Amino acid sequence: MTAQIQPAERPLRVGICGSGITTVHIKGYQKVAGVEVVAIAGPDVERCRKLAERYGIPRVLADYHDMLALGLDAVSIAVPNAFHAPIAVDALAAGCHVLCEKPLAATAADATRMVEAARESDRMLMVAFNRRYLPTSLALKRLVDAGTLGPIYHASATWLRRGGIPGFGRWFTTKTLSGGGALVDVGVHILDLALHMMGYPEPVSVSGSTYAQFGPRRKGLMSYGGPIDDLAAATFDVEDFAAGFVRFVDGATLVVESSWAAHQGQSESVVLTLYGRDGGARLTHSGGEPHTLRVFTDGDGQFVETAPAIADDSTTSDYDREVAAFVGAIRAGTPPPAPAEQGLVVMRIIDAVYRSAETGRQIDLSSAGESEEAVA
Ligand SMILES: NC(=O)c1ccc[n+]([C@@H]2O[C@H](COP(=O)([O-])OP(=O)(O)OC[C@H]3O[C@@H](n4cnc5c(N)ncnc54)[C@H](O)[C@@H]3O)[C@@H](O)[C@H]2O)c1
Repeated sequence: MTAQIQPAERPLRVGICGSGITTVHIKGYQKVAGVEVVAIAGPDVERCRKLAERYGIPRVLADYHDMLALGLDAVSIAVPNAFHAPIAVDALAAGCHVLCEKPLAATAADATRMVEAARESDRMLMVAFNRRYLPTSLALKRLVDAGTLGPIYHASATWLRRGGIPGFGRWFTTKTLSGGGALVDVGVHILDLALHMMGYPEPVSVSGSTYAQFGPRRKGLMSYGGPIDDLAAATFDVEDFAAGFVRFVDGATLVVESSWAAHQGQSESVVLTLYGRDGGARLTHSGGEPHTLRVFTDGDGQFVETAPAIADDSTTSDYDREVAAFVGAIRAGTPPPAPAEQGLVVMRIIDAVYRSAETGRQIDLSSAGESEEAVA
């Protein structure tokens, strides 16, 4: 991708697809000078209209095709995962740069289609991995890049919710619309963060298991996702717990665990642990608790634990920084900080966890060709 530089003399015209989490995108754009959010589109026109009134967005459209016809520079997409691919492909073909919510797509096949469309369009496709822009993540990335940990040989990435299945019976818990459950929804963030710190090594094999212990029994919902009309009839055909083991081409490994509901100690435990030759690190983003970062090294035969200084600017959110980075890359004509190719790697791993869970076999993702191997 060699994105064309956005001329500084005219505003960047942005369109918004979806009226849920897109609020954070709108707020982010409106903090960047020279950016105008000119339209919002979604089949739920009333909710879109309310957002338009609140944020002063001039146009509301039911169909995103009509929004693309306005001749926009960029589009933010935050709609059910299965619609990321068709909307992104159309937006890229219409000449727009695209910021797409996580996961990049509902399946690796769709994600591949999106990466190809971005290459063909010469426009930028960025994944909204907002957790990278939290102060603790930024501090950890600086330490990793400075070589403090040395080469990272293993990572443990966990996002475990004790209870909180989102939007029960709606798109989140319907496989054809979401692509999966806890892993593709929240696990995707911590998996990306681990890979980002490890330098996005190429995965060669994946083994995994998934479970649905709570959803089918209508347990573990808590207060997530609003009221449910008919709980007994609601669709739940995804996992509420997933675990995966990934090997990379450079010999490094990663364990990922993710749940929407599980009997464990915290309401939400979000932890990334990195094991490097020269140091380790533990980052926590657990819900309702201060985020923490600790670094572990040794010196003179003693264990050394440090808490690096975290620059926290409470006036700017991780979403604000993400949107600013997207706009900055468009203006500079540089590749996006979270390119679609990385979103595709995440989706190949998630797809492989699901396939491994179904077949009971390890999935070979090496360039020699994808296949399944009997687990030894
Ligand atoms: N990064 C984060 O922190 C974060 C948080 C929540 C959700 N998300 C992601 O954002 C996306 C949307 O989630 P949400 O919570 O806003 O969902 P939501 O259900 O609140 O909103 C979905 C929106 O998509 C629209 N939509 C539905 N079908 C559509 C279609 N066929 N074409 C166009 N628009 C359609 C709906 O009208 C609605 O406006 C998902 O991919 C989700 O994973 C990210």
